[in-house]
Amino acid sequence: MRDASPERHPVWLVGAGPGDPELLTRKAERLIYTAEIVFYDALVSPDILSLIAPNAERVPVGKRSGRHSKDQESINEMLLAAALAGKRVVRLKGGDPSIFGRSMEEIAHLRAAGIEVCICPGITAASAASASLGLSLTLRGMARRLQFVTAHARKGEALDLDWHSLADPNSTLAVYMGKAAAADVSRQLIAAGLSGDTPAIVIENASLPEERHLATRLDLLPLAVKTGIGDGPALLLIGQAMDIRTATAAAQQVEAQVREE
Ligand SMILES: C[S@@+](CC[C@H](N)C(=O)[O-])C[C@H]1O[C@@H](n2cnc3c(N)ncnc32)[C@H](O)[C@@H]1O
Repeated sequence: MRDASPERHPVWLVGAGPGDPELLTRKAERLIYTAEIVFYDALVSPDILSLIAPNAERVPVGKRSGRHSKDQESINEMLLAAALAGKRVVRLKGGDPSIFGRSMEEIAHLRAAGIEVCICPGITAASAASASLGLSLTLRGMARRLQFVTAHARKGEALDLDWHSLADPNSTLAVYMGKAAAADVSRQLIAAGLSGDTPAIVIENASLPEERHLATRLDLLPLAVKTGIGDGPALLLIGQAMDIRTATAAAQQVEAQVREE
């Protein structure tokens, strides 16, 4: 039987944001600094890890650090063991913990054992990308819907996405984990009716000094991904609002209409 500690603390799932430490919330910074043990994902940048107190334990649990994501069960168990031992636990995740972060599996496991779980939000990659590019993800009359999807499929399985709903010309689509599937995403969206010349951007390492991006069109997106970026985390952004000239002209038009009214 596990020891029941009278001094249990809630486990905090903390959003580390896209990489730039200045994009961390003040609350996240405080939680990281006061944690006694921090379990962190591979995408959490070294500058953010440097905020962990020197005497705190650091436990890398990300795929890129050699641990495969199918180890989610062991991550759940490690979090629980640390919480039951009465430690102040922070589970540090890239971006926002509630977006493609498998947070619910950790929350459910901890809550089932009677451990309180709290979430500190973080800036998601799409918001960081929009800031770096100087583009708004939504745009009056042009991008009324914002869709976040992950293009990560289980090994050997086809991408199971609702392509007709995603191929909406009045929306902006942000594809997380979409690098390997860029050709599939492009082909399926075009087959579902989205024009091949729809603006598309691939952005890698958004918010970090090594950030780079390539602006292209949907039918050329696979080529851009293949030739234009490296092995950093990358996001695909697709939609009319992702073209600076189109977006600026549309915004000016809206402004002129408002002035006339
Ligand atoms: C497992 S998901 C986690 C997303 C994270 N929770 C968020 O809110 O940004 C990882 C994916 O997020 C995207 N991503 C994370 N950080 C990024 C960055 N700095 N620049 C571009 N894309 C990023 C990439 O698509 C990457 O494969």
